[in-house]
Amino acid sequence: MDFELKTLNRALVCTEKADALIVLVPEGFAGGGDALSALAALAIKSGDLELKPGKLLSAYRTPGIAAARVVLVGAGDASEKNIRTAVHAATGVLKSGNAQRALVCLNLLPALMPGSVRAAVMACAEATYAYTTTKSKPAAVKLQQAVVVVDGLVEVQSGFDKAIALAKGMDLAKEWANRPANHATPTLLADAAKELGKLRRIKTEVLGPKEIEKLGMGAFLSVAQGSAEPLRFIVLRYEGAARGEAPVVLIGKGITFDTGGISIKPAADMDEMKFDMCGAASVLGVFRALAELQPVINVVGLIPACENMPGDRAVKPGDVVTSLSGQTIEILNTDAEGRLVLCDALTYAASFKPRAVVDIATLTGACVVALGGVRSGLFSSNEALAESLARAGESSQDLCWRMPLDDDYAEGLKTNFADVANVAGRAGGAVTAAKFLQRFAADFAWAHLDIAGTAWKSGQAKGATGRPVPLLLDFLLAQVNAAPDEKASVKSKAAKTRAAVAKTRA
Ligand code: BES
Ligand code: MN
Ligand code: ZN
Repeated sequence: MDFELKTLNRALVCTEKADALIVLVPEGFAGGGDALSALAALAIKSGDLELKPGKLLSAYRTPGIAAARVVLVGAGDASEKNIRTAVHAATGVLKSGNAQRALVCLNLLPALMPGSVRAAVMACAEATYAYTTTKSKPAAVKLQQAVVVVDGLVEVQSGFDKAIALAKGMDLAKEWANRPANHATPTLLADAAKELGKLRRIKTEVLGPKEIEKLGMGAFLSVAQGSAEPLRFIVLRYEGAARGEAPVVLIGKGITFDTGGISIKPAADMDEMKFDMCGAASVLGVFRALAELQPVINVVGLIPACENMPGDRAVKPGDVVTSLSGQTIEILNTDAEGRLVLCDALTYAASFKPRAVVDIATLTGACVVALGGVRSGLFSSNEALAESLARAGESSQDLCWRMPLDDDYAEGLKTNFADVANVAGRAGGAVTAAKFLQRFAADFAWAHLDIAGTAWKSGQAKGATGRPVPLLLDFLLAQVNAAPDEKASVKSKAAKTRAAVAKTRA
């Protein structure tokens, strides 16, 4: 999808040639002298256009309007959420027709903000996205160009630029997440990361099995050992700030297929475990967006990528492995593999002396039970970091919800045979997984996003959502603008956590 931002007043919108004109009409719309406003006002008055978000009324060859098709759509109170709903519905209608170039007119909305434009662009991108890579005759989406029309450019240009970057990032994340596992192996994921390394200010480094063994990532290795596909450990760097600026580290779970291993999963819906690298895909998507926006910040992306397979070389329940941190782990369930690849990446992250570390993972079915597909699970013992992430979720309409991390949740991870077990009981599964990770994140400000419920949709609409790229991007961009003392507060809290953890260990 190609996007453009254009300034036109209402009269000029009527004369602008296009295949379609989508007009968002807010509650309380008062009308006006131009053909467009008159049409909207008449439709409301006659009771044929409801203004609830997403309610549609289509017209063809309307007198006084140059665009062939006109789609009037209710926009409710014109909140970002309602703009998204409205544009999504209207664009959906045009998908089946012959329109190639559509105007998305926001001129009738009151108090346009950068976020309004972003919401419109995101909805357009979302509604017209189509996965094609492994189809021999992909159904072509005709609609190819969307021109977002506003009254005044200056105020909303920043929102537009951000939206374009975000759309590119989300498209990349969806592409890799949607690919089946035989078209998205650890090696292919690493190749995608290398492609990103060609973009401005991005560097990519890829480690293979030998290097990972030498480093001592025994937990990561134990997951990968059952598969014929070699593991990859991907290190991405976006260098937008001075060398000495501490980076934010993003860690994405990159299990390119999760069979469960020896603790094998049931057959039903197992295909969806190709999505078990959505955390990794979101990291790739964020870097794509960073390349576009070039913000003044340093970001590191770490992706431990491998398959989780059963087999004669696979790790067995009861096996004890030594993680990069030195902590030994008893693998009681080989299906709790995400935490095993993440724990070594967390230890590795410390070497960057990070300002903050955020891991993103399709980690637990329990999180799907707890929060469904609406909000991602947010875990952090660092108040400032948790708040920043929650705020970014709100501002980007990519919501998350804070979950607890009381130490009592870690009781079930105790074992007689290693420092820690990789599973506790069934109860509170999303939290016990986070408690496991927390043991490896004592040396920095850390947060964990469990995206098991939000990263993809099942059923008819099966496919990746591109989440939480919007949340992560807003979080990073807010870090750029954060006052120095706000950054420092994250740091000092990290120091406090460190001290507290040292105390509990002693
Ligand atoms: N990738 C899964 C989590 C998952 C399951 C995400 C279903 C979305 C839908 C993860 O590796 C896993 O298998 N977790 C286990 C953990 C359990 C063995 C403690 C789970 O959630 O069942
Ligand atoms: Mn698993
Ligand atoms: Zn998994």
